Amino acid sequence: MSTFSAKGLRKNFGQVEALAGVDIEIRHGEFYGLLGPNGAGKTTLLRILSGILAPDEGSLQFLGKEVARWKPSPALGVVPQEMALYEMLTARQNLALFGCLHGMSGTEYSRRMDVVLEAVGLEGRRDGRAKTFSTGMKRRLNLAVGLLHDPEVLLLDEPTVGVDPQSRVKIFSLLEQLHAEGKTIIYTTHYMEEAERLCQRIGIIDHGKLIAEGSLSELLSKVELPRSVRVYSAVDVEYPLDIPLAASTKGADYSDFVPQESQHLGALVSGIEKSGLPYDRIEIIGPNLETLFLQLTGKELRD
Ligand SMILES: Nc1ncnc2c1ncn2[C@@H]1O[C@H](COP(=O)(O)OP(=O)(O)O)[C@@H](O)[C@H]1O
Ligand SMILES: [Mg+2]
Repeated sequence: MSTFSAKGLRKNFGQVEALAGVDIEIRHGEFYGLLGPNGAGKTTLLRILSGILAPDEGSLQFLGKEVARWKPSPALGVVPQEMALYEMLTARQNLALFGCLHGMSGTEYSRRMDVVLEAVGLEGRRDGRAKTFSTGMKRRLNLAVGLLHDPEVLLLDEPTVGVDPQSRVKIFSLLEQLHAEGKTIIYTTHYMEEAERLCQRIGIIDHGKLIAEGSLSELLSKVELPRSVRVYSAVDVEYPLDIPLAASTKGADYSDFVPQESQHLGALVSGIEKSGLPYDRIEIIGPNLETLFLQLTGKELRD
């Protein structure tokens, strides 16, 4: 049984087709990444899965049960893209408010409050007003709010936008810990490296459609992507002639060597090593999520 199983989800906002028929399965305990450019439909899909928004068409099952009335289940923790915080209230007061909404009270509630404040590294700022917080701190408080009632399933909508590197690391390690504890996590992002690092399965969404899905290696094996070995060197380097090569190009302080079709990049690297070419640094440019993503969604900017 899956955590979520959705079929044929469609949603229009006036003339805008936000979701154009999405089938998606989210398995128990998986860390699922939803990756897509701005306006792709990530938030719309997440809001439907969260039970906040009803689709125009399609069906959704949560834990094997048809979702008929669109209201959030207490098993879900939602961390919205637009931060849902009250600026004038302190960290604790913000949490208290959401605790009330979840019907929490007494010692369980005070204990959870301490747990989540510590988990997001805000225990020292519990009585600071949200308006005095940096973006990273607000994002972490937003996350604490979503975690307060200890949900089984966490849905996060671009939770690291605009945060400092320290907050990002804190958020990542917390999510990895929650995942290790068995929580199901659905994470939308437009940052490739986040999806690469965190997610077991990645769905790429564009123009309201899921256009590719799989583990990182499954996704990368589906298409032919550029591969090369980049050699940085203070001196001009010539590639050793006895190793076959498809092409080479020179950049400002590097040279790119492209292997023949079936050739391993590792063979190129060892060839370079053996030939004694002077180099400062070698980079293997293999297929990665970014090259795949750009190939699938195009290179034009979307704002
Ligand atoms: N409440 C809304 N009213 C009108 N248009 C909307 C609304 N929500 C989303 N849209 C539009 O639907 C499309 C998908 O939006 P969204 O799901 O927010 O994408 P993403 O989260 O991937 O950036 C966009 O074109 C967006 O402008
Ligand atoms: Mg969004």
